[in-house]
Amino acid sequence: MDFNRKAMIFSVSVLGLSLTIFLFAYMVFGDNTDEDLRTLRQVNMLLCYQLIFRHGAKYPDRAYRKDYLHQEIQASDPGSLSLSGSLQMYNLGELLRHRYIKLFPNNGFYSKKFIQVKSSWMDRTIASALSFLAGFMPPLQNTNPLPIPWQPVPVVSIARDRDDLIAQKRACARYDEVYKAQMNSEEIKAIDERSKNLYKILSKNTGENISSIRDVEFLQNTLEAEEAASWEIPDWTEDFYPSKTLPLAERYLRLLTETPFMKRIKGGPLITEIIETMVARKNQLSEKAISIYSGHDVTLVNVMNAMHILNQTSGKPDFAAALAIELHLSLDHKNDMDVKIYYYFNSEDKYPKSIKIPSCDSPCSLDRFRKVMNGLIVNDFEKLCETA
Ligand SMILES: *[C@@H]1O[C@H](CO)[C@@H](O)[C@H](O)[C@H]1NC(C)=O
Ligand SMILES: *[C@@H]1O[C@H](CO)[C@@H](O)[C@H](O)[C@H]1NC(C)=O
Repeated sequence: MDFNRKAMIFSVSVLGLSLTIFLFAYMVFGDNTDEDLRTLRQVNMLLCYQLIFRHGAKYPDRAYRKDYLHQEIQASDPGSLSLSGSLQMYNLGELLRHRYIKLFPNNGFYSKKFIQVKSSWMDRTIASALSFLAGFMPPLQNTNPLPIPWQPVPVVSIARDRDDLIAQKRACARYDEVYKAQMNSEEIKAIDERSKNLYKILSKNTGENISSIRDVEFLQNTLEAEEAASWEIPDWTEDFYPSKTLPLAERYLRLLTETPFMKRIKGGPLITEIIETMVARKNQLSEKAISIYSGHDVTLVNVMNAMHILNQTSGKPDFAAALAIELHLSLDHKNDMDVKIYYYFNSEDKYPKSIKIPSCDSPCSLDRFRKVMNGLIVNDFEKLCETA
């Protein structure tokens, strides 16, 4: 009797223990592919990383003429980060905190030596950066001087007319000329011709003059923001949005960096800064481990198209999509380090997509990365922008 009971307790315990081990193993390894496991190991060798994200969901910038959501839009704060957008950015911050926490200083406090956060000039990107940081860098419980789990982390916003990094609106006369020529290229004319009927229907339903892929992109943005606000968009959109409008909006975004010159002007300044940060870190000239850039869908598209990696991600990034560029100690390259790039499709994306860097082996060394990106480096923006 006694023996049987002991045996039973023993078997139950063994069973319980096996189950625990199994569950633990499942938690650690279960959902992960080999690629994820490699990634997890590599995080231990991470030295520095740079993150570029699109702001979270926003309220529409403006209604189209026949928009029956006029009142809702006016009652919101047009163009600003919405409440759900703020939560998206907080969630993204919390998600990435777990991946990058090993880089944080032991005391958990912000220091300008260790992290820099830059934003475009707009309310929604600044608010996105702040929401992100609330999830990304809360203070440690035992050293927090405030009654809420939050610490101030400065966000530098760049004036629009000087911003060649994030919104990339700094004036460039030569770019404007090339842009105009690209909008009138044979390919785009052919697209406009093919889309004539669509433009007509969209114009009729919106009360706007929709006559180019640029106009379609405006409409795509408005409908996207209205949907994200959980407002009901009208039935007529069903046949066109997003099935017909999205490919045209994506084509417009890609056109902004169509030629090598356009890639350099739009994507070059940020890529130049990112490379400089990584080189300084590698050469131990800087302790900067984290750089964050809070931007727009065009920020991501311009940078990714300039690097020729756009076709591995999304042609029109979702709210809170993010691109991470990481610098790792290398097992493969002597006296050099590895550059790795990951893409988060949205704020729920637990397993980011590993991006293949064109013309570079995997792992891609920092030295090789610099060579591949050499044509994008910008040292004298104004000179490049002079017209003939
Ligand atoms: C719509 O805009 C295009 C391009 O700006 C212009 O050529 C066309 O005349 C406009 N159509 C109407 C009906 O206003
Ligand atoms: C993406 O485009 C590059 C050229 O820029 C090409 O070499 C590559 O095969 C494409 N990748 C995919 C996934 O289509």
